Amino acid sequence: MNRKNFLKLSSLGFSSLALPSFTKAGQKPIVIATWDSGMAVNAAAWEILAANGRSLDAVEAGALKIEDTIDCCVGLGGYPDRDGIVTLDACIMDEHANCGAVAGLEQIKHPISVARKVMEKTPHIMLVGNGAQQFAVENGFPKVSSTLSPEATAAYKEWLVKSEYKPILNIENKKQNNGPFAPNFFDDGSANHDTMGLLALDMAGNLSGAVTTSGMAFKIHGRVGDSSIIGAGLFVDNEVGAATSSGVGEEVIRICGTHLVVEFMRQGLSPELACKKAIERIVKKDPEKAKSLQVGFLAINKKGVYGAYSIQKGFVFSVKSGHENRVHASKYLVSV
Ligand code: GLY
Repeated sequence: MNRKNFLKLSSLGFSSLALPSFTKAGQKPIVIATWDSGMAVNAAAWEILAANGRSLDAVEAGALKIEDTIDCCVGLGGYPDRDGIVTLDACIMDEHANCGAVAGLEQIKHPISVARKVMEKTPHIMLVGNGAQQFAVENGFPKVSSTLSPEATAAYKEWLVKSEYKPILNIENKKQNNGPFAPNFFDDGSANHDTMGLLALDMAGNLSGAVTTSGMAFKIHGRVGDSSIIGAGLFVDNEVGAATSSGVGEEVIRICGTHLVVEFMRQGLSPELACKKAIERIVKKDPEKAKSLQVGFLAINKKGVYGAYSIQKGFVFSVKSGHENRVHASKYLVSV
């Protein structure tokens, strides 16, 4: 790849006020989450961490918070697939490598808690589609109306005009810049999406993670991205660290992204460098295609040192600890 296309130090804006993560000694407890919407998520998780609670409970509480919010990319208020149906993906993983996941779940408000139930009450890891919904209902999760949120309805109608698929990068940032679900958001008649992934290290030194999403907007019905796949959208190894991802899930699955990030940390790389190496892996496979893709990795190690890296400018993440409560801009690899 043309080296001119790389920026070595590309952290901009408010993040430039923050010390680079690799100089921090580490913090505990701490919770980190994708995007600026991660601030509210972190606040919910922090209530549990600050009370000396378990990281698993903290990440579930954070995910529940955003699933309760109308958001383009998470929960039943999110954008539907191309058939107008909202399908949800989620997973959760704890310090013992226990994990649970659901994919293609319809009409259930809290996929993250269903994923936890799969983890705790079954010998399995992932349930999908009708089976996941049946399991949810059997376990006390009410089936709710399949009506789209007004915001999703407007976006879907706009998309139907052309019915084309072309990802929009950093949908969370565009949402922020243009206002939630702004009409001009879908000028090209399509949308990408961005996922909520969060990672927590509790006072006891244990790591957990959770991911929840409505998946890529206007996807083919039945499409599952990285967010419910352990090792792709989320991986936790309590000896080493944890990682999560956001962006185009297919590219993350292709490299087993978060597992790769954790393995790089195992080799001694900082979280930020581990994320960077995984991003490089994606970009190297197809540098031209990468110019129109966004993937961001976010990671934390056992000491509570965190870091992130993305393909392009625009990925941001939120951090909450006893010392900070802020949004950071991720460094990125490709200057388009
Ligand atoms: N990163 C979420 C997805 O691709 O569905």
